[in-house]
Amino acid sequence: MSIIIAPSILAADFSNLQKDILMVNNSNADWFHIDVMDGVFVPNISFGIPVIKSIKKNTTKPLDIHLMIVDPDRYIKTFVNIGADILTVHYEACNHLHRTIQKIKSLGIKAGVAINPHTPVSVLKDIIKEIDLVCIMSVNPGFGGQSFISRTFKKINKLNKIVEKEKTNVLIEIDGGVNDKNSKKLIDSGANVLVAGNFVFSSKNPKETINNLKQNIYN
Ligand code: DX5
Ligand code: ZN
Repeated sequence: MSIIIAPSILAADFSNLQKDILMVNNSNADWFHIDVMDGVFVPNISFGIPVIKSIKKNTTKPLDIHLMIVDPDRYIKTFVNIGADILTVHYEACNHLHRTIQKIKSLGIKAGVAINPHTPVSVLKDIIKEIDLVCIMSVNPGFGGQSFISRTFKKINKLNKIVEKEKTNVLIEIDGGVNDKNSKKLIDSGANVLVAGNFVFSSKNPKETINNLKQNIYN
């Protein structure tokens, strides 16, 4: 399976969002990664429903929505209704993760679980078969443009072992600080989805950067 590239719209130019949406539409990117932050679960507030509706209206690419919010259950239906294709909740924000996952899947979309850098992948052992995607946070969630935490590689290896042992299939997404220095090693370690914000949107030629990530040309 070829690697899935999900540019994170958090790093886009919000004064000219249309331009960046079109760039992603016309690129080899696979998904739009959309970070929703509530200022409680993470120390930052990003954007909400009206902005996501506008993105949906202007793109045909799947929306990979990453909820960095407390009590995400309250909003599952809302995000499904506005067109989420993958909805990811944080392990640390769910008291009844199994129920939350079932609720997302019952509405016909893919369910993801994100884990913070301090959370071991082993906590997902008993629920891994229910999950479509695991998002390993490679920075502390809340802000774009942070440095990649190298412990992430070990976490991918450990997650691979759990997935093998449980004889299941799950997409492994890496979110935060992805760039030309770590993308190859991430892909070689078994990552399936790379989220990239600043590395894509701050580059001279974002379309080419997306393509380079997709083709795994960096060393
Ligand atoms: C961090 C977000 C990331 C962020 C990635 O809280 O979940 O998706 O946008 O941005 P970069 O690639 O700039 O680290
Ligand atoms: Zn994210």
